Amino acid sequence: MANVVVMGSQWGDEGKGKIVDWLSERADVVVRFQGGHNAGHTLVIGNTTYKLSLLPSGVVRGRPSLIGNGVVVDPWALMKEIEQLRSQGVTIDRDVLHIADNASLILPLHGELDGIREDASADATKIGTTRRGIGPAYEDKIGRRAVRVCDLTSRDAVAARVDVLLAHHNPLRRGLGHAEADRDTLVNQLMEIAPKILEFACSGWRFLDEKKTKGCRILFEGAQGTMLDIDHGTYPFVTSSNTLAGQAAAGSGVGPGTLDYILGITKAYTTRVGAGPFPTELHDEIGRGLGERGHEFGTVTGRERRCGWFDAVMVRQAIKIAGITGIALTKVDVLDGMEELKVCVGYELNGERIDYFPNGVENQAGVVPIYETMEGWSESTYGARSWADLPATAVKYIRRIEELIEAPVALLSTSPEREDTIMVKDPFAD
Ligand code: GDP
Ligand code: IMO
Ligand code: MG
Repeated sequence: MANVVVMGSQWGDEGKGKIVDWLSERADVVVRFQGGHNAGHTLVIGNTTYKLSLLPSGVVRGRPSLIGNGVVVDPWALMKEIEQLRSQGVTIDRDVLHIADNASLILPLHGELDGIREDASADATKIGTTRRGIGPAYEDKIGRRAVRVCDLTSRDAVAARVDVLLAHHNPLRRGLGHAEADRDTLVNQLMEIAPKILEFACSGWRFLDEKKTKGCRILFEGAQGTMLDIDHGTYPFVTSSNTLAGQAAAGSGVGPGTLDYILGITKAYTTRVGAGPFPTELHDEIGRGLGERGHEFGTVTGRERRCGWFDAVMVRQAIKIAGITGIALTKVDVLDGMEELKVCVGYELNGERIDYFPNGVENQAGVVPIYETMEGWSESTYGARSWADLPATAVKYIRRIEELIEAPVALLSTSPEREDTIMVKDPFAD
């Protein structure tokens, strides 16, 4: 009986939320292990759409869920999200939600700093962050000055941590021409929200250890994707955490041996939201068509997502780096009706052909994709629930992708709706 890690293999928004929701029917626990409310995971169940940013997608099915220590938690955003889901009829109580007490907090000054920096950057260096304070909060965590969930138990502990934090932030804010953050205001804000967060706080590793002892199946839910990873992505146009499957262990408090099947969620074309290199980006009608049919607007910020052809070189790289066992291929239906499809099978850089995505801003901006052209299909695959319902040309496209990325398709998603999912191989049965 396997535990499964779900992670993005491109630039995020591959459909992780939908797949986690679908898989969580057969999971006993669902765990978020990195990122924060920069994530936007969409679940469509019948006529209802749920948008989750911090809560593990398993909560919608009432699965016990953990926000792991690797997540940066904005307490106010979390409470807002809980209220929103409760208003949609989802029960979120102490049986469902658990928050690791060693998770670091995102405070209002983090979001402010994120915005101040973005606004102050020249156009060419803007990251296009979600302005949620993710980067500044992770900086404080690594800088050992974060306020963590476990500090919320006493005013003295909060005040002591806030003093350390402001000794760094106030000189920085002054230097940027902004007013200092007020210590007492921040302490009061934290003490006011503290009981609402502490209600769900626990020792994350002990919670998971207990579940493992009982033989429970754990589903780890990644946010963002490999190309947004702080080490392996298109640095500096990345998020501030490791998004790879390995982080599921460190970000929740289990050993790496617990991670049995790594499922890479992969869109049948490519999208990116925010700035940074994107070799297969389309600036034409074809790209706009993908965006319209795929409803490619950011879940969190509403920004238009950039669209382009499937980049097999990049996904193959993600598969190698993250140790992806198999993929869930999503949004194949968005390609319905396209006469021909292109797939990037290599790059040209300075007159030479390469079969990997190089590091360095200049190299990444300089690679020119080499395409293979494939025949499209006129039939609809939207909502297909069996392999036999797929046109032969669509199957050929999928098979070619498998070959190029060197990994099999375990799941195929054919619409936003929960049940429009075809299982080729059960990741839990690995
Ligand atoms: P995530 O961040 O990886 O969870 O992905 P998002 O939820 O941000 O974006 C994926 C979008 O595609 C959502 O609106 C989903 O409802 C939708 N979606 C997921 N799978 C499919 C699919 O197979 N076909 C179509 N047409 N839409 C899908
Ligand atoms: P999900 O989990 C797509 C992008 C931002 C920006 C960069 C840094 O829904 O796939 P940040 O706010 O994290 O410092 O922004 O990362 N980004 C995402 N893009 N999907 C996401 O999450 C993202 N989370 C962050 O657009 O380019
Ligand atoms: Mg998303």
